[in-house]
Amino acid sequence: MEHALEVRNVSLRFGGVRALSEVSFAVNDGELFSIIGPNGAGKTSIVNCISGRYRPTEGHLFYHGRDITALKPNARAPLGIGRTFQNLALFHHMSVLDNIMVGRHHLLKNNFFTGALYWLGARREELEHRHKVEEIIDFLDLQSVRKATAGTLSYGLRKRVELARAMALEPKLILLDEPMAGMNFEEKEDMARYIVDLNEEFGMTVVMIEHDMGVVMDISNRVVVLDFGRKIAEGDPAEVLADPHVKRAYLGEEDEVLVDPDDAPDHPPIAERVA
Ligand SMILES: Nc1ncnc2c1ncn2[C@@H]1O[C@H](COP(=O)(O)OP(=O)(O)OP(=O)(O)O)[C@@H](O)[C@H]1O
Ligand SMILES: [Mg+2]
Repeated sequence: MEHALEVRNVSLRFGGVRALSEVSFAVNDGELFSIIGPNGAGKTSIVNCISGRYRPTEGHLFYHGRDITALKPNARAPLGIGRTFQNLALFHHMSVLDNIMVGRHHLLKNNFFTGALYWLGARREELEHRHKVEEIIDFLDLQSVRKATAGTLSYGLRKRVELARAMALEPKLILLDEPMAGMNFEEKEDMARYIVDLNEEFGMTVVMIEHDMGVVMDISNRVVVLDFGRKIAEGDPAEVLADPHVKRAYLGEEDEVLVDPDDAPDHPPIAERVA
């Protein structure tokens, strides 16, 4: 199987802080891949290296076999790498629709001047964009809030609008930094279903950072675990959670509750509930 993404020996330093140390893993095309680890483990840092926001101090990143280490973020987006942020990055004063349109920015061929000269072409292009945006609005059930100002929406809905904006770029690889953080149970369930669907129906390869172990267990094909900037485990979810290094990494984190794969769940897994 072709690797959609390969992270090879990536290290990242901020002055004296070693955010990442020789991290390597590969994500298969079409996979739903999760990155887990305690706070400060380097999860967002690795996603920032993949999206191009951070340049690794050492190591390389390959996207479908191509070395993208030196490419700027705006050169990676057109290749099909999209992302959401751990802290919401929406334009709060703009409508939901306009926020999603912003996601298509790099796909707009006509700028103002050529658009004015060839307005027929520009008009056709705009209609095409509208059509795509409407498709995403339908997919994420955002019809009722499409004209609402983003800043007025609930946190859960704003996270969904951010996902819509990332999808609007039509990425082949989508990076999701804690898409369910701060959500209640129902919102998480919905978000998990959307992520499974965008992976299965839209065929997007997903790299997701998530703290909720139940969700990670239920929907990921494979998981990599970081701790203090190092990879400590990689494999299928049950395998990884049973790993003694992983158990140790989470010990002492009062707010982290590891799910023991041998424990009988008292509720059906999300994958079943959302099916
Ligand atoms: N821009 C930066 N400047 C300085 N240090 C940074 C920067 N970004 C990250 N770090 C440091 O790198 C380490 C890893 O941070 P990172 O945000 O990647 O962790 P994380 O696993 O995403 O944590 P969390 O679960 O809290 O989101 C931390 O020690 C952090 O303080
Ligand atoms: Mg983070």
